[in-house]
Amino acid sequence: MNDLENHFGDDASIDLNTNNIILEFLEKNSAETSTKEASVMILDSLKNKDIIAITNTIYWKEKHKNIKKEIFLNSLVKSKANCKACHSDIEKGLIEDENIKDISSFSSM
Ligand code: HEC
Repeated sequence: MNDLENHFGDDASIDLNTNNIILEFLEKNSAETSTKEASVMILDSLKNKDIIAITNTIYWKEKHKNIKKEIFLNSLVKSKANCKACHSDIEKGLIEDENIKDISSFSSM
């Protein structure tokens, strides 16, 4: 949040007030403050490595290893970071199987 001018190759800079609101949200909702299984597993799989994207953690890679590359490139998914394309209720923290879309529909487009 201190260097949003260089955010994964994009200039994502925002005004100070918005920055503070987002920073507060991130600190309040980080994996360190959660008892959810996925949070614990993700933190655990970080070990001491300096990983800045969830999709680069061993835990995430392991959970998604059976999903073909083409599926993430589908126009409805676009990116691994677009969690919501498959996890419909991820904003509510719901990542159980019954909240995952049928991803086979993404392979034909
Ligand atoms: C292309 C669809 C797709 C995208 C995009 C995706 N996931 Fe998943 N995710 C899945 C599927 C399918 C599974 C279930 C895999 C299995 O059980 O074999 C899964 C499993 C998981 C699990 C494990 C759930 C459990 O209870 O075992 C977590 C946590 C998770 N995803 C988080 C994320 C996050 C965070 C993102 C975004 C950074 C993301 N996923 C992006 C399809 C996706």
